[in-house]
Amino acid sequence: MTDWLLDPDVAYLNHGSFGALPTVVGEAAADLRAMMERNPNDLLARRLAAMVDDIRGRVCQLLNGEPADCVFVPNTTTGTATVLTALSRTFDAGDEILTTDHRYGAIAAQLGAAASQAGIVPVSASVPVESATVADVIAAITDRITSRTRLVVVDSVASLSGFVFPVAEIVATVHDRGLPILVDAAHAPAQIEVDLAAINADFWVGNLHKWVCSPRAAGVMSVAPQWRDVVRPLVASHRYPEGYHQAFDWTGTFDPVPVLAIPAALDFWETVGWDNARETRRRLVDDGAGRVAKALGTVAPAADQFRAAMRVVELPQPLSDEQILRVEAALSTDHRIEAALMQLQGRSWVRVCAQVYNTAADYDRLALALPKVLPLS
Ligand SMILES: Cc1ncc(COP(=O)(O)O)c(C=O)c1O
Repeated sequence: MTDWLLDPDVAYLNHGSFGALPTVVGEAAADLRAMMERNPNDLLARRLAAMVDDIRGRVCQLLNGEPADCVFVPNTTTGTATVLTALSRTFDAGDEILTTDHRYGAIAAQLGAAASQAGIVPVSASVPVESATVADVIAAITDRITSRTRLVVVDSVASLSGFVFPVAEIVATVHDRGLPILVDAAHAPAQIEVDLAAINADFWVGNLHKWVCSPRAAGVMSVAPQWRDVVRPLVASHRYPEGYHQAFDWTGTFDPVPVLAIPAALDFWETVGWDNARETRRRLVDDGAGRVAKALGTVAPAADQFRAAMRVVELPQPLSDEQILRVEAALSTDHRIEAALMQLQGRSWVRVCAQVYNTAADYDRLALALPKVLPLS
């Protein structure tokens, strides 16, 4: 584990929430910070724009994206808020934004804000965690489209379930219905192979500090050309009038180190091998989820084609939100295990993640600890 800055005594089964840093990326970030601090003005006022442009190009190679479409944002929350705020201004009270019950809490909150500020109606399609086919997933979503639907928002890899949505197929179907679509891809870069050209979403936002393992916080947003006059940064600064890249690249003084360290993270994964890492994670999490499900006498239901590096295992009984916080804290303090518990579709789940630093022993530790910390009835 010397390759990672994580505490080796912790069974770290929650890579998904905030990522973790390879040691070489941490060192590169420290070097970049020292470089900046030797002459902040030279870096921020003169050299940064060209450096960011180069890094944008490298990130677009990874995602098969168009550099003209892509800007860095601090995180996915900011990206989705930017899109939803811009579009909500063009909608009328009573117009609907359709999402699914796997949506992240921040999206639910942003839709709640659009509801209270502009009378937008959030609609949620239920996509069962047991969904077996792409057609089932698409039908669950399109069944909820109405004449008032103005936008569809789907996850790429859902936080609540680890479910990998068939995003390209959903985008094509939603476009056939004449609607734009926003993809919340917070977990997608590096966890799954991303092909932005093939996905062809109107708006797509992903994090680099999760599975690409850049320092926190760095996100990337891709906006299709026809929307670039509508989607403007939430914060206007000097270069706002100059164009899309310029407006987003400088929204006031910020810490550029997370973006500047992205190349170090990309180099790290190039050494490990992107596909090799994805296969390792998939093997670890399938095996690990199975071990935890066996210990709990429950299921880890995702169908093969909707799995990547995060899986949810059902808990023997539903828990309240307070019980969930207590169980997570007990796992952390009493057992030195980090894992997230989730509520979805009236059931409670433990989410296990796999990163290349995990071993089968981490999941065994969780399998042993959970029955000790779960409430008895
Ligand atoms: C699906 C999903 N969307 C959005 C976010 C928000 O990411 P951030 O907190 O980096 O903005 C997360 C974070 O875990 C997420 O899982």
